[in-house]
Amino acid sequence: MSKAHIVVIGNEKGGTGKSTVSMHVIVSLLGMGLRVGSIDIDARQATLTRYIQNRQARKDFAQLGLQVPDHVAVPPTTDPAADEARLLETMERMSATHDVVVMDTPGSDHYLSRLGHSFADTLVTPLNDSLVDLDVLARVDPLTMKIIRPSHYAEMVWETKKTRAMRGEKAVVDWIVLRNRLAHLDARNKQSMEKLLADLSKRIGFRVVPGLGERVIYRSMFLEGLTLLDLRHKIPGFELNMSHVAARQELRALVEAIGLGKMAEAG
Ligand SMILES: Nc1ncnc2c1ncn2[C@@H]1O[C@H](COP(=O)(O)OP(=O)(O)O)[C@@H](O)[C@H]1O
Ligand SMILES: [Mg+2]
Repeated sequence: MSKAHIVVIGNEKGGTGKSTVSMHVIVSLLGMGLRVGSIDIDARQATLTRYIQNRQARKDFAQLGLQVPDHVAVPPTTDPAADEARLLETMERMSATHDVVVMDTPGSDHYLSRLGHSFADTLVTPLNDSLVDLDVLARVDPLTMKIIRPSHYAEMVWETKKTRAMRGEKAVVDWIVLRNRLAHLDARNKQSMEKLLADLSKRIGFRVVPGLGERVIYRSMFLEGLTLLDLRHKIPGFELNMSHVAARQELRALVEAIGLGKMAEAG
């Protein structure tokens, strides 16, 4: 069905950075000259929708030429079948007119989220760098620190391949796990996470990319609708510093891992 490349940002847990990562990936892809559509199916929080609205609302930024994606929110109603039909129709429409569609999803198991995941050519799962968050992907034996079995979310991702196959699409999903909020002073936890994720990636078929550090700046740009990429402009209160430069490099590594550079060059 899809002509556009579909990037779904998903994790069944809330507060892992899905909406923050969505916004940063969107603005990065726009900066590469790609036609980017975005879909928010997290109606309860609607963080991405509000982030984009905040960006549009800042008329005083107009001279900076900040790019915004074509954005659609698909909130659920009381009629699941109608909601699914609406999401399918939105995907078809956006897909036909854009190079990439980025979808932000809720931090819960929900029928729209499951359907949303089934469109992913690339699935990016941000994961706080903690064993608590890892539990969403797999049960870990606390004594041996070995993986017992994949968890519900991993099974759900697996199930979506069947949904794709039923629609006559390729069943492959490039699943990227992104460690988020990496702390400087946490060597022991970092090591356990690294080892467990390496084991798990082989078992359930994802790749791990270099993560994003814990940085205050991510929390302070939402109301202005800004991203790290916009800080190359001189914006009062958002002066670029070394931490931001490092953060931008981390973000660039993620966008390179998604790998749409060739598409951008061709366009
Ligand atoms: N790398 C980071 N460093 C610092 N704060 C972050 C980082 N990533 C996300 N946050 C903050 O964590 C909170 C949850 O992020 P959000 O993107 O809303 O997660 P989700 O969409 O998964 O619920 C927000 O306050 C956001 O600003
Ligand atoms: Mg969110």
